[in-house]
Amino acid sequence: MALDSVLYNEIIAAFTVDTEHLREAAANFRQDMRLGLAGSPDSSLRMLPSYLGLPTGEERGSYLALDFGGTNVRVLLYRLEGNGTYKMLSHVAKPLKVDGVYDFVGADATGEEMFDFLAGLVDEAVAGDHETPYLLGHTFSFPSRQTNINDARLIIWTKEFAARGVEGEVVNDLLRAALVRQGLSNVTPNSVINDTVAVLLSAAYINGDTKIGAIYATGHNTCYLEPHTGMAEPPMIINMESGGFQKISPNRFDVALDAASEKKGEQRLEKMVAGRYLGELFGLAMAELLGEKGHTYHFTSVDLSRMLADVGEDAQLAATIVEAVTGKILPVEDAVRIRELARAIVVRSIRLIAATFVGTLWQITGAGEICPQHIAVDGSVYEKMPLVQEEMRRAFSELLGEDAAKVDTMLACGGSGLGAAIAAAMTERG
Ligand code: BGC
Repeated sequence: MALDSVLYNEIIAAFTVDTEHLREAAANFRQDMRLGLAGSPDSSLRMLPSYLGLPTGEERGSYLALDFGGTNVRVLLYRLEGNGTYKMLSHVAKPLKVDGVYDFVGADATGEEMFDFLAGLVDEAVAGDHETPYLLGHTFSFPSRQTNINDARLIIWTKEFAARGVEGEVVNDLLRAALVRQGLSNVTPNSVINDTVAVLLSAAYINGDTKIGAIYATGHNTCYLEPHTGMAEPPMIINMESGGFQKISPNRFDVALDAASEKKGEQRLEKMVAGRYLGELFGLAMAELLGEKGHTYHFTSVDLSRMLADVGEDAQLAATIVEAVTGKILPVEDAVRIRELARAIVVRSIRLIAATFVGTLWQITGAGEICPQHIAVDGSVYEKMPLVQEEMRRAFSELLGEDAAKVDTMLACGGSGLGAAIAAAMTERG
């Protein structure tokens, strides 16, 4: 079988973002930030206040952190020691779904069951201690409307989560009730933050010079310290819910993916860039290339990562992975093209995210000059996907010219747990 060259080239073009479109995306993003801050319904960014500024680095004490929002839930006990230092005292983690055993992600689960599962993990993290008082910071990584640091109401599930009875609810009320059912009245949740906010807090605690935090993993989102206007007074971290950004042009695969998703019409950027979806986009394009338009194959972002890590001339791993998933044997020249398709999908993802980072830098900078700074990013795609560093840098150079040298992205590994502990400390201090 040989792939149709015309179709192949057209599909690669559909996943290509040239410099002009990159600039347009960055400008539109900044415009949506401003509209969102002003409360305009024309913004596709939710711009949710976090009720937190940046930490000083001097926060101290032991705090529990519940990190909930991806495929794994983690509960950690941290001791913050000030001066940007900390120790992790205990750590438990479990997946939210084990095929054929349990599933707290799908629509068959109830919120109560899900939060009971979380409370069980907290119990493990404190080794069954039902006496010692603990404050708990909760990283809850879904769009939530807050009225203060401890009161966050889930607006809508994302990342294909669907457990019933959580949307519209105050998540720490559900958590508190589950902790009580578990006999853990000694554990008091005192703060809820988004995972991007947690990443920013952890990076700022350790490093300074960081005003933007992002997740590039199963899902995608960015927050930043808004210095100027609107609801963020005094300067406050805003969770943009940038995965909801809409002012970019979807191609036919994006449209098909959205139509088959849990929340149609929502999270349009996220569905073009996040790890949960990259393999699916590849599967849709692959099916079309194999003459099976309308069908799809289930690839994962890890498959794409493995294909790209193989830089051999004959793209053997791409052929092996495609054969395992589709049963089709590719000749060498097609395997090379398929690896190019994976590359195009991944590079588009990196470039679109880079554009949103630049839009955010423009907003932070206002009329002044870009200050030297880091953008803190956590997440498996950022950490493990080939090409991320170089393509991010290339996109920054295209948009920022010489100023690109002032900005870099930095891995904030484990930031979403540490940040929750820092939030609990900042809240206690008041
Ligand atoms: C959620 C965000 C979260 C991001 C990364 C998105 O689906 O809406 O709140 O920050 O995933 O976990």
